[in-house]
Amino acid sequence: MMLAACLAQGSAQAAPVEISTRNSALLLEATEGKPLAFLHYGSPLSAADVKSLTDGARSATDSYPAYGNYPENEPAMSVVMPDGNMTLDLVVAGPAARSAESDGSTIYRIPMKDRVYPYSVTACYRVYPDDDLIESWVEAVNNGKGNVKIMRYDSAYLPITGRDVWMTSLYGGWANEAREATEQLLPGVKEITNTDGTRNGHYSRGEVMLSLDGRPQERSGEVIGVAVEYPGNYKLRVVTDAGRRNRLYAGVNERNSWKTLAKGEKFTTPPVAFVYSDKGMGEVSRRFHKWGRERRMAHGTTPNPVLLNSWEGVYFDINEPGMAQMMKDIASMGGELFVMDDGWFGGKYQRNTDNAALGDWTVDTRKLPHGINGLLDEADRQGVKFGIWIEPEMTNSASELFEKHPDWTVQAVRRDTVKGRGGTQLVLDMGNPKVQDFVFNMVDTLLTRYPRIAYIKWDANAPIMQHGSQYLPADRQSELYLSYHEGLLKTLKRIRAKYPDVMIQNCASGGGRVNWGLMPYFDEFWTSDNTDALQRIAMQYGTSYFFPAMAMGSHISAVPNHTTYRSVPLKFRVDVAMSGRLGMEIQPKDMSEADKEFCRKAIASYKEIRDVVQLGDLYRLQSPFDGKGAASIMYVAPAKDKAVYYWWRTDNNYGTVPQRPALDGLDPDATYRVTELNAIDNQPIPLEGKSFSGKYLMSNGLEFPVSHSLDWGKRVDYASRVFLLEKQ
Ligand code: GLA
Repeated sequence: MMLAACLAQGSAQAAPVEISTRNSALLLEATEGKPLAFLHYGSPLSAADVKSLTDGARSATDSYPAYGNYPENEPAMSVVMPDGNMTLDLVVAGPAARSAESDGSTIYRIPMKDRVYPYSVTACYRVYPDDDLIESWVEAVNNGKGNVKIMRYDSAYLPITGRDVWMTSLYGGWANEAREATEQLLPGVKEITNTDGTRNGHYSRGEVMLSLDGRPQERSGEVIGVAVEYPGNYKLRVVTDAGRRNRLYAGVNERNSWKTLAKGEKFTTPPVAFVYSDKGMGEVSRRFHKWGRERRMAHGTTPNPVLLNSWEGVYFDINEPGMAQMMKDIASMGGELFVMDDGWFGGKYQRNTDNAALGDWTVDTRKLPHGINGLLDEADRQGVKFGIWIEPEMTNSASELFEKHPDWTVQAVRRDTVKGRGGTQLVLDMGNPKVQDFVFNMVDTLLTRYPRIAYIKWDANAPIMQHGSQYLPADRQSELYLSYHEGLLKTLKRIRAKYPDVMIQNCASGGGRVNWGLMPYFDEFWTSDNTDALQRIAMQYGTSYFFPAMAMGSHISAVPNHTTYRSVPLKFRVDVAMSGRLGMEIQPKDMSEADKEFCRKAIASYKEIRDVVQLGDLYRLQSPFDGKGAASIMYVAPAKDKAVYYWWRTDNNYGTVPQRPALDGLDPDATYRVTELNAIDNQPIPLEGKSFSGKYLMSNGLEFPVSHSLDWGKRVDYASRVFLLEKQ
C-alpha cells in the first residue's frame, strides 16, 4: 500500500521546518535533494520533540507523494511529461522561504523539483497562529519546452496518525443540506466528492472532522478539521491501510479535469485549511468561525441586518405596490433591510416564471413603472435598506442575451443543448473573459446606476449540465471546470475591489455554495431553500461545524411550509431563525396582527442578542442527529458576560422525555441571571429572573418545562425555549 518512504535520518543537512500555532504544530523536514518529509501534525512540540523527531525517532513519510516510482501508492500529484513519462520524482530544491503577511499570518514556501525534468512544485503553508489554522496548497511550474499534463493535483496530503480515527462529514441534497455522517475509518478508501460543476454544497460538503481517538466528541478528544477552500468540484479521500494508518488527500476533484501546463505556465491549487484541537469538535468549529469572521469573510466582524426577502412571500409576482407594502411591513416589525428576489427584470422576454430572461438585467417597467429608483425612494421613506436578487452566471435560451451570444454558454460541440431549470436555463462559461466582463459590467452598472443598493443576493441555480466550453480550444476542454471557477473568482475579486462595502449573499438553490473558497467575497449565505424550522435545526447544526451563525441566513416563513408542508408554531419558527442571521421570508400582509406583534418583539430581542449570536462563540450542547428528542446550542460573548441558550424539542411523541443538556462555555465563577426570550406560557416559568453560577449551569443545566402552558385551543406542539443569560 502506501509507501512510508524512509528518508535520510539525522543527516548533516537535515532542515526541520516547524510550522506552529498556539495549540498545534506541523513538522516537516526539507533536506535538499531528498523528498520533503512529513514528521508530525497535531499537538504542539517542545524543542526536544523537534530534535528527536528530526533525528529519526520516528520514520518520516513523503509529505507530497507523487505518482510513478512506486505506482501502487496513492499519489497527491501525477503528471505526464512531454515525452510521455508518467513518473514524477520530487525532491527539495532549496531552503524554505518564510514571509510575514500583513494580516499576521506567515507563508512558508518549500521549493521542490523533479530530479530530472524541468518541472517544479512549491509546497506552500500559510499559518494563522492565533487561530490554530494552517492552510496548505501547491504551485506547479513547467520550466521546460513541451507541455506537461497534470492529471492529479491535490492541495494537501496529511498522514493521520491517530489510534482509532473516525470521520464526520456532511451530506444531503437540495433542501436537505448538511446532514451529519459519522463513521470509523476502516481499511479501504473513503471519498467525498463533488461533481456539480458550478456549486458544491448540496450533496456533500468539502469539509470533514477527523477524530483521532474514537467517536467524535463535542467537548473532548483530538480532532482535525479540514476544509477545502474552493467553490468548484472538490475531492477529499482517506486511504486507510491494513495497519489502520490513514492518509488524507484533499483538493480539487481531478475527474475529467486534467490541466495542461505549457512552457513557463504556473498552476496554483486552492488552499485547504486545517485546524487541530485536543478539545473536541466544538473547539475546531469555534476556531473556524473566528478565523472565518476575522480573516475570510467580507465584513465578518460587523453583524448582519435583519431582513425580509420577497421570495416565499410573492415568488415571481413582483410589482410596485407589492414591494412597497413588504417594505412598510418589515420596517414596522423592526427589520432593517428588504430584498427583492427573482422576477424584477426582463425586456423582450419577461421573467414571470423560471423559464426566461436570465441575462437580461434591465428592470421590467411593466411591473415596476418607477424602476429601481422608485423602490429605493420607497425604502428610504420606510427607513430600510434595499437589496436585489441576481443570478449573473446564468442565462435562458429564451433571453436576449442568448440570442446575441449563444457562444457564451457551456455547450459541447455537435451535441444537443442540455437545459436546466424551467427547461431553458443555461450556464454562461465563466472561463471566457468576455463573459467575465459581462458579469462584472452587469454588477457594476447596477451598483453605479443605483448606489443606494446595499445588498445583492447572488444566486446560481444550475450545475454544469454538459461538458463543453465554446471558449477553450479543443486540447484544453478538460479545463472547463477549472477555468470556470478561476473566472468566477477573478470576477468576484474585481467586483469586491470596486465595491468593498456592498453586502452580498451567496446563494445557489439554497445552500449549494456554502464553502470557504467563496466567502471572502460574501457576507453570508442562504443556508437552504427549505425554511421548515424543524428540518432547519439539523441543517443549521451541520452547517455550524465549519461556518459561523452570522453567515447563516435563517428566515421565519409561513406555514404550512412551502417545502415540507409541515406546520410548526410561530414561536418555534422564530426561535430557530433567531439562532442564525435572523430574517423573514413570508408575506407579512397574510400574518395576523398578533403574529406580527410577536415577530416585532422577537426582532427587538434579537437586536439585543445579535452581537452574541453573530460574533460570539458557539457551543453545541445537544445534537439533533443523536435522536434524543431535542437539540440545543448556545452562544457566549467573548467576555463571557452574556450568553444565549437555545433549546428545541425535535421529537413530539407523547411520553418521551427530551434532553435538557448542561450548558457550556460560561465563566464557572460568574453568576448569571436567566431571562426567557419569546416567552409564550400563560405565566412566567419558575426559572424567570433567577440567578445561577456558571459552574452550576455547566453541570446541571436549566430545568425548564419541556412543553408550553397555554389555554386550551392555543396549545402548540414542538416546544422551544430561548434564554438570555446575563452576568450579574
Ligand atoms: C433559488 C434560491 C431562492 C430564490 C429562487 C429564485 O432557488 O435559492 O431563494 O431566490 O432561486 O428563483
